[in-house]
Amino acid sequence: MPVVAIVGAQWGDEGKGKIVDLFSEGADLVVRFQGGANAGHTISRKGCPLVLHLIPSGILHKQARCLIGPGVVLDPDSFFQEVADLQAAGIEVSSHLGLSGKAHVILPYHRAEEAFIEAARGGDRIGTTGRGIGPAYADRAARIGIRVFDLLDPPLFKERLSLCFRLKRGHGLTGDDASFEEIFNAYVEFGQRLRPFLADVETELREGCQRGSAILLEGAQGTLLDVDHGTYPYVTSSHTVSGGAVTSLGLPSSQINRVLSVVKAYTTRVGSGPFPTEVSGPLGEEMRERGKEYGATTGRPRRCGWIDLVALRHAIWVNGVDGLAITKLDALDSFETVKVCEAYRWRGKTLRHLPEEPAVWTEAEPIYQEFPGWKRSTLGTNRFEDLPGRAKRYLDVIVEGLGVELVLVSTGPDRGEEVCLRPLWGSTWDGEERWSRS
Ligand code: GDP
Ligand code: IMO
Ligand code: MG
Repeated sequence: MPVVAIVGAQWGDEGKGKIVDLFSEGADLVVRFQGGANAGHTISRKGCPLVLHLIPSGILHKQARCLIGPGVVLDPDSFFQEVADLQAAGIEVSSHLGLSGKAHVILPYHRAEEAFIEAARGGDRIGTTGRGIGPAYADRAARIGIRVFDLLDPPLFKERLSLCFRLKRGHGLTGDDASFEEIFNAYVEFGQRLRPFLADVETELREGCQRGSAILLEGAQGTLLDVDHGTYPYVTSSHTVSGGAVTSLGLPSSQINRVLSVVKAYTTRVGSGPFPTEVSGPLGEEMRERGKEYGATTGRPRRCGWIDLVALRHAIWVNGVDGLAITKLDALDSFETVKVCEAYRWRGKTLRHLPEEPAVWTEAEPIYQEFPGWKRSTLGTNRFEDLPGRAKRYLDVIVEGLGVELVLVSTGPDRGEEVCLRPLWGSTWDGEERWSRS
């Protein structure tokens, strides 16, 4: 059985939650490898959405051991809220959820620091989710981060917390002695409540790989939000690409057999930063309304635009993608015309691939191919042959333009509203056979 990484190819919210849930049915392990509660991964059953922020999207499947890896930044408050919400919905959580003690913890001063930096940036703010993600990762890199393990050793935690307080007090990010005691006590208690969830994620992964378990690695955010390979500085603070799974989980790269990329049939972005194919005005609004494009974490309206093959070719390469799951085809059902950005015009050149220069993001003009829309509902379609001819042609243009096989087309938010072209698990995954459209 293979190890499969599932990553977002755009600026997040591609529908990773739905795809991970779907393929978790046959999985032994589902492991979230980076990010934190900035993520909002939606799973929808019979019209009822369930949004996960930290807990892996395999949690509805009891046979799947769900792990939160060392590279995730954990807000204990958010974690326990999520556990409580799931339990209130009758979902069994504790028996198959594990958390790495190496995961870094988000503290109240991380959120304060993020607000402080965003305010200082003024009009150039990133539009973060306000969850303390960037400062927590910054503390990790500066070696002043606090890990779940530290919460279990109060004297050590006190020492480390007091260093952070001393360092950050000058900026007004931490409070007085009373607030120190309050945070210290609250997080010691969090540590005790987290203890039962502790898991040796690296060992479980190694043993799973050695046993030949079916393992899903769940990415959060998307490639264009990667701290190095995205639209810096308008990015998140972790490695969202498949390589992020390797470093965050301590998993040898040779163990990852497949990378499945989730691609929305158009493009969205929340927060600031360049977006060459963004559509403004009534058409952009129609996309937002049709796709219900409002953030699953913050509720913010998402910016919308056409699909961008130049940006996607970059994502395909940096992730080593060998299968595509194209989502939200149905959200384009009503459009007279649909457009695909095939190349950029930039400084007199036509580019099919993204150069490294950051200026390309803001200066490039998209070159579009236009197609007549299919103007027929595809909602819930689950056989490829039942898709309208024009929708199939649209998919073909994307697949041929990217040179990667199509594994799945999602035609609605719910489980069952998808066309599966390749099984993720089973014989097709074990041998040399590649995915191909039959
Ligand atoms: P994620 O962060 O990548 O997991 O994506 P989000 O959950 O933030 O956003 C995707 C949204 O689209 C959610 O509301 C999903 O329920 C919904 N969704 C996923 N796939 C489809 C689809 O094929 N069609 C439609 N209409 N909605 C979908
Ligand atoms: P999922 O996993 C979409 C965006 C924020 C902001 C930038 C930095 O649901 O796809 P951060 O809080 O991470 O420091 O914000 O990244 N962002 C996301 N956009 N989906 C997400 O996650 C995101 N997580 C962060 O809007 O622009
Ligand atoms: Mg999301």
